[in-house]
Amino acid sequence: MSATDTSEPNRRDFLYVATGMAGAVGAAAVAWPFIDQMRPDASTLAASSVEVDVSSLTPGMSLTVKWRGKPVFIRNRTPEEIKAAKEVPMADLKDPVARNANISSDAQATDIDRTAGEGKENWLVMVGVCTHLGCVPLGQQGDFGGWFCPCHGSHYDTAGRIRKGPAPENLHIPNFQFLSDTTIRIG
Ligand code: FES
Repeated sequence: MSATDTSEPNRRDFLYVATGMAGAVGAAAVAWPFIDQMRPDASTLAASSVEVDVSSLTPGMSLTVKWRGKPVFIRNRTPEEIKAAKEVPMADLKDPVARNANISSDAQATDIDRTAGEGKENWLVMVGVCTHLGCVPLGQQGDFGGWFCPCHGSHYDTAGRIRKGPAPENLHIPNFQFLSDTTIRIG
């Protein structure tokens, strides 16, 4: 039997195994940047709250701002809109819950509890996402003069409460506060 007839790996086999390992290490190094990109970056964290100057909103004017990827409606209501919302009997409300993140989760959907509160009941701040399937409702439209979602016909009143159509809940009110008479922080 010659010296080459042996079951030991020869030099050529060894080089092949070594190259295979280098390939595996390379693949692991490439995977990391993708995982790293899934962490929120500084700009995403900063957007967790937004400050909005509302000094230009006279009664009857609205503004839509983007907050955490969603539209937020800010409206300075007219006296007529406030009056109409206050006159609605609670028994007429399809969703009797305020849906206001700033107060108790079981607070009733009275007009005042849908707004920025005493002395600021002209201000409505609401997430502009229909509670049916998530379309963005249109302002000052529909049967109740509030918001109307054309996707499947949901009508909200001048306090953003669902009054007719398939949406199950009032438009949601996010955490917000007035930092001054003219600046609102959302989030
Ligand atoms: S998403 Fe608004 S009515 Fe369906």
